[in-house]
Amino acid sequence: MAGGECKSNDYGAAAYWDARYSSSSAGSPASGGGGEFFDWYQTYSALRPLLRACLPASSRVLMLGCGNSLLSEGMAKDGYEDIVNIDISSVVIEQMREKHKEIPQLTYMQMDVRDMSFFGDESFDCVLDKGTLDAMMCADDAPDGASKMLAEVARLLRPRGIYLLVTYGAPKERVPLLNQAGCSWSIALYIMPTPGYQLKMSKGAPQPTMEELALTEDGPPDYVLKDPDSHFIYVCHKLAVEEANCRDIDPEETANAN
Ligand SMILES: C[S@@+](CC[C@H](N)C(=O)[O-])C[C@H]1O[C@@H](n2cnc3c(N)ncnc32)[C@H](O)[C@@H]1O
Repeated sequence: MAGGECKSNDYGAAAYWDARYSSSSAGSPASGGGGEFFDWYQTYSALRPLLRACLPASSRVLMLGCGNSLLSEGMAKDGYEDIVNIDISSVVIEQMREKHKEIPQLTYMQMDVRDMSFFGDESFDCVLDKGTLDAMMCADDAPDGASKMLAEVARLLRPRGIYLLVTYGAPKERVPLLNQAGCSWSIALYIMPTPGYQLKMSKGAPQPTMEELALTEDGPPDYVLKDPDSHFIYVCHKLAVEEANCRDIDPEETANAN
């Protein structure tokens, strides 16, 4: 999914991911196959400043498509108390359950993000997504599956809860998807170069660099990606019902009606 492009794999299919997580030949250690651990895009240490700033350690967190990422482990070791990890691959869920059996803050469940009816409405403070919306956008049922997932995310979050999305998707593609019917968000956008680019620019002492960008309806104005493979981070606050209603009122229409 580098640069937001879908390859021929069906990234939304359990069979694809089960094979990838089972086989040491299907995935090199660098891609997380055969019981290795692998983080797509960014690691906890790079994301930590943002997470600590917007998410109290007592938050109940849902990790979508956790894979064999060490993000949840990093968060638990750093004081986060309750992280529910889900993935469509039963293979990776078994591996991660075994690896983290001594960390009670982490639970693992096999689940499809398109149907999370197991969980009640407004039952999480935060939903974290690193690469899973991107996988859904490369699935056979895209973009419908991705829309179903986002509707579920909105249902599961309490008002003012946070959907934190780490993705290759630029605002032009992701903002319309986020603002689909039934989801109302206030969105802050950040951009973070790939770890490789950070290493190159810092000449050996990587310094995670994250920039906040102004977001308009058409995306952030006047910015140029220094690293063309940069990741976008969307911090989306779910608007409370009153706030969402306010946003839908067109002042001109109201004036004309009076
Ligand atoms: C690109 S990987 C990201 C893994 C991990 N979040 C990370 O940052 O390293 C996408 C993950 O989404 C999972 N996935 C794909 N489709 C899914 C679905 N419909 N429901 C739940 N998980 C899904 C895959 O099994 C895979 O682990």
